[in-house]
Amino acid sequence: MKVESLEWDSQFLGAPVSRIVAEGASRRELAEAVARLRAAGVRLAYLFADSPLAPADADALQARLVDRKVTYRMEADGLPSTHPWPAVTPYVPAMPQAELERLAIESGKYSRFHVDPRFPEDKFVALYVQWLRKSLTGEIADAVLVATDAGRPVGLVTMAQSGPAGKIGLVAVDEACRGRGLGRQLVEAARQWFASRQVSHAEVVTQQDNVAACRLYETCGFRVHAVQSVYHLWLATPSTSRPEA
Ligand SMILES: CC(C)(COP(=O)(O)OP(=O)(O)OC[C@H]1O[C@@H](n2cnc3c(N)ncnc32)[C@H](O)[C@@H]1OP(=O)(O)O)[C@@H](O)C(=O)NCCC(=O)NCCS
Repeated sequence: MKVESLEWDSQFLGAPVSRIVAEGASRRELAEAVARLRAAGVRLAYLFADSPLAPADADALQARLVDRKVTYRMEADGLPSTHPWPAVTPYVPAMPQAELERLAIESGKYSRFHVDPRFPEDKFVALYVQWLRKSLTGEIADAVLVATDAGRPVGLVTMAQSGPAGKIGLVAVDEACRGRGLGRQLVEAARQWFASRQVSHAEVVTQQDNVAACRLYETCGFRVHAVQSVYHLWLATPSTSRPEA
């Protein structure tokens, strides 16, 4: 088991945040780790488990399942794509930021930061807006592609190279334009970008509950590489929480 405090998350949320990676820890070990975090004043703990906790153990820890995190992967030999992507162009700064921000927020709708009703809504929005801005400035992404319809941005995908791996970050298509193949065009264009960077494999992370995204990645040739259960444990009452769903 690994337990670490998360500096960035703590600063962002304005309260101490830690991560527990269960790695086969026993129920007692987990309970002790949580008790230590609680005593240390940690407000939110993310618990990552390779297999789901038994419901009674999750209840005892007051751990809420917020994500069945799926990592999809494609090896280098599958990357070159011949699928056309006429609606997709590279991001240029003249593109309207508000539209892109809306798409970035949409990209997080199934994320644990939105699914968890105790995670403040304004923090969820700020998280995805910041993710987009840092992607556009090249801090956390190496390329951003945009799908347009009559000149208006209606979809986006962000990509980064991390060592030998190519990683897809944000992906979204405007609700009014879904089901028309734009998501596929964006992901196929990302595949081609990764092929040109000669990465050893490409990865994208989503949620098992996000049926549309899972279907999109599978249609584009990605296969499930790993599945993890992610829990949120609120160890103290946040002052800005949303009402329980
Ligand atoms: C996921 C998303 C980008 C798909 O975009 P899209 O433009 O509608 O997708 P496409 O039209 O290109 O469809 C691609 C494939 O996914 C399938 N698909 C799309 N939406 C689906 C849905 N709601 N249910 C089941 N399958 C779906 C399509 O049938 C197609 O597969 P097929 O070619 O085998 O038929 C879009 O639904 C979206 O923006 N969702 C909200 C944001 C999000 O969840 N992003 C992912 C973050 S990881």
